[in-house]
Amino acid sequence: MIRRQFLHKTALILAASTGVVAALSYFRQFFPRIAGKKRRITLGDSARFPVDTFTYIDEHKLFVYRDHEGIRAVTAICTHLGCTLESTTDGFECPCHGSCYNSQGEVLSGPAPRDLSWFSVNKSSDGKVLIDPGKTVAADEKFTNT
Ligand code: FES
Repeated sequence: MIRRQFLHKTALILAASTGVVAALSYFRQFFPRIAGKKRRITLGDSARFPVDTFTYIDEHKLFVYRDHEGIRAVTAICTHLGCTLESTTDGFECPCHGSCYNSQGEVLSGPAPRDLSWFSVNKSSDGKVLIDPGKTVAADEKFTNT
């Protein structure tokens, strides 16, 4: 193999590899990372979550919101490329590329392609808050037995 052929094949392999990585990164944005990983996250007593506040749970990359009516849980993973969101006074903001979501998890400005996923919340028999990241619910659905 002469040098020119070697360089040509190497360039083709690098270009193909780059294309595969780019395609995988693009399609990954359509699947929330937390979904399907672990069923039923136990978070402890509901009193641990301040009222009218989004509490960030770093271990599970989600926010838990508690008000006087109940508890809700939303992913903290941006639907663009998976950065961890930050809670703001009006909702959530992504520090990576600037996507903004309102407090219902709806996209206000991109590049995020879709709204945030909300997860089913229940309580265990011993009163602990349980979150099921494999089961998504509507943004306004909350567990009301707080
Ligand atoms: S990863 Fe959040 S806007 Fe890009």
